[in-house]
Amino acid sequence: MRAIQIVEESGPDGALRLVELPEPEPSHPLTPGAGVLVDVHAAGVSFPEVLQTRGAYQVKPPLPFVPGSEVAGVVRSAPDGASVNAGDRVAAFCALGGFAEVAVAPDYLTFALPDALDFAQGAGLILNYHTAYFSLVTRGRLTAGETVLVHGAAGGVGTAVLQVAKALGASTIALVSSDAKAEVAKEAGADQVVRLGDSWKDEVKELSGGGVEMVLDPVGGDRFTDSLRSLRPDGRVVVVGFTGGSIPEVKVNRLLLGNTEVIGAGWGAYVLARPDINREIGAAIARMIDDGFVRPVVGERFALESAAQALHAIDGRRATGKVVLDVRST
Ligand SMILES: NC(=O)c1ccc[n+]([C@@H]2O[C@H](COP(=O)([O-])OP(=O)(O)OC[C@H]3O[C@@H](n4cnc5c(N)ncnc54)[C@H](OP(=O)(O)O)[C@@H]3O)[C@@H](O)[C@H]2O)c1
Repeated sequence: MRAIQIVEESGPDGALRLVELPEPEPSHPLTPGAGVLVDVHAAGVSFPEVLQTRGAYQVKPPLPFVPGSEVAGVVRSAPDGASVNAGDRVAAFCALGGFAEVAVAPDYLTFALPDALDFAQGAGLILNYHTAYFSLVTRGRLTAGETVLVHGAAGGVGTAVLQVAKALGASTIALVSSDAKAEVAKEAGADQVVRLGDSWKDEVKELSGGGVEMVLDPVGGDRFTDSLRSLRPDGRVVVVGFTGGSIPEVKVNRLLLGNTEVIGAGWGAYVLARPDINREIGAAIARMIDDGFVRPVVGERFALESAAQALHAIDGRRATGKVVLDVRST
C-alpha cells in the first residue's frame, strides 16, 4: 500500500517520504490481536503531525513511522462483536498510521459514518468533536444557557467547539485573527465573532454582559491572563492546547479573587483506554449529527503525496477547519 512516513525530525519540508509498505495486520496496540481494518478514503491532518515532524510532540514513536491519527473509509474487516461490519462507512481513530491506504483502529474508536457526512468530514470527526465534547461537558461542566469564548475558533478544534456548544444550548463568542477566519467561524455557527487585537477582552465582556462562563483555549500563549479576566464568577478556562507556542503560567491569586477555575482537558490521555467513555461520547456526537448541529468544516484538501503542503498550511497559521488528505479518489 502507499503511505507517508516520517523518516527524520527535520520539519515538514524534509521529514516526509511517500513509500510502499505491507498492509497492517488487524491488530491495534490498544487492543492487541484485534482491530478494525479500514480502506482509507480520507485522512485527517492535525497540529500533532506538524510537531511530530520536528520530534516535538509528546508521542514519539521510533523512526520511521506512519503518522495520522484519524481516517474515514470503508471497513474491510472487523473483529467479532464489533459495532461495525465489513463494508460499513466509518470514521476511525487509529492514533498512528492514518496517512496510508489501509489503517487499523480499535473497535471502540471506530464509529459508523452517517450518510449526512462525506469521507472528508468523517476524517475531521473524532479528534476534534470528541475533544470538544470532552472539554465542554466531561471536564468543563457546560450547561445550557452559558456563554463560551472560543480561541482559535476557525481552526479544527475551534469550529468543532462552536458546533458542539450550540448543540448543548450554549452561546458562543469566537475569537479569530483575520476577516477570512471570522467568516469561517460565522459559517460554523458562532453567535458573535471578535477579532484578535488590543481590546478583545473588553469586547468580549461587553458582548457577554460582564463576562463569560467558559473560555475554551486551544491556543495558550500571552492571551491567557486576559482569558481569566474575561470570566464571570464561577467561570472556567478549559486548557486544550498551545498553538500559540508558549505555555502560560497562572498567578493563582487571580483564581481566588475572581472565584474562577483553570481546568485541563487532555482527551487522549483520559479516554483512549476507556471504551465506555468513547462509546458515550460517540453516541452524543451521533445525536448531534442527526439533529444537524455537527457538520465538520473541511478546509484545504491535498493528495496523500502532498502531505507536506498540508502540514505547512497548519504550521503557517493558514488552516481553517480540518485539513484533509484525499487518500483514494472515490
Ligand atoms: N487537549 C486535547 O485533547 C487536544 C485534542 C485535539 C487537539 N488539541 C490541540 O489543540 C490545538 C488546536 O488544534 P487544531 O487542530 O484546532 O489546530 P488548527 O486548526 O491549526 O487551529 C489552531 C488555531 O490556533 C491559532 N493560532 C494562534 N497562534 C498560532 C500559531 N502560531 N500557529 C498556528 N495557529 C495559531 C489559530 O487561530 P487564529 O489565527 O485565529 O488565532 C489557529 O486557527 C493543538 O495544539 C492541538 O494539539 C488538543
